Amino acid sequence: MANTGAPAETNAAPAETRAAPALEVSNVGVRFGGLAALDGVSLSVAPGEIVGLIGPNGAGKTTLFNVVCGFVRPDEGTIAIAGRTVSRLRPNQLIGLGVARTLQGVGLWPHLSVVENVMTALHTRSKGDVVSALVGLPRSSRSEQELRRQALAELGRLGISEVADRLPGALPYPVQKLASLARALVTRPRLLLLDEPASGLSEADIEALGHLVQGLGEEMAVLLVEHHMDFVMGLCHRLVVLDFGKVIASGSPDEVRTDPAVMRAYLGEEVS
Ligand SMILES: Nc1ncnc2c1ncn2[C@@H]1O[C@H](COP(=O)(O)OP(=O)(O)OP(=O)(O)O)[C@@H](O)[C@H]1O
Ligand SMILES: [Mg+2]
Repeated sequence: MANTGAPAETNAAPAETRAAPALEVSNVGVRFGGLAALDGVSLSVAPGEIVGLIGPNGAGKTTLFNVVCGFVRPDEGTIAIAGRTVSRLRPNQLIGLGVARTLQGVGLWPHLSVVENVMTALHTRSKGDVVSALVGLPRSSRSEQELRRQALAELGRLGISEVADRLPGALPYPVQKLASLARALVTRPRLLLLDEPASGLSEADIEALGHLVQGLGEEMAVLLVEHHMDFVMGLCHRLVVLDFGKVIASGSPDEVRTDPAVMRAYLGEEVS
């Protein structure tokens, strides 16, 4: 359901609608033993679109991310990225396809500095020596310097250059989250997957993150999972609601907010 016809004050959808979707999930099913974590799930994200994937705990949101990233093989259905159907996708092919994700939480390597963490994403892309990056062997090659320059530039864009040489664990949580975002963005993805980017952040940090992601949405397609409803409603062009592994609603934030099935799914959970 597109949000054409939505009131002007709702989040404006991008004009570009003709290009192949950045992401197209078709009829995806995933079972863990007897549990259907995903059941017939379809959704798409257009270039330049910010789509929010919401739903109660255990609805299947992270599982869907894991399918898109090739971490979980779907039992049925297909994934197409920029119009290319990807079957048997391996996680290390993601960057080549223009896909980057952040993990639920932070997920930085604890024994690497912030800038080295960001560089690991570039090593994957350049098929360089990931091991030398991980164990911190001396590196002097020009390409290594170039990766460092790119990683520092990304940290600068996110306003955290000053922590480049610090270990992540020593930093405040919001800065760690920005560092993990830098690691995703440094690959210049066309499709960015964010799993709970606002979790654990203060209201002020969440507002700043909203502006940041809004800016990213002009350059790439964004699919984000988030429990923080104000953040999602204010930021996303479109929402898809999962419950017990099924899409129970989709549409503009206003359409979804007032959908009776969504209200039922969230009964007992906070919907602000
Ligand atoms: N590797 C796994 N093995 C078995 N069951 C799993 C596995 N991963 C997820 N599940 C189950 O699949 C369902 C969906 O889980 P998922 O983590 O995708 O939910 P979610 O919507 O991301 O929840 P949350 O909001 O709590 O992060 C849950 O019932 C979960 O327990
Ligand atoms: Mg999750």
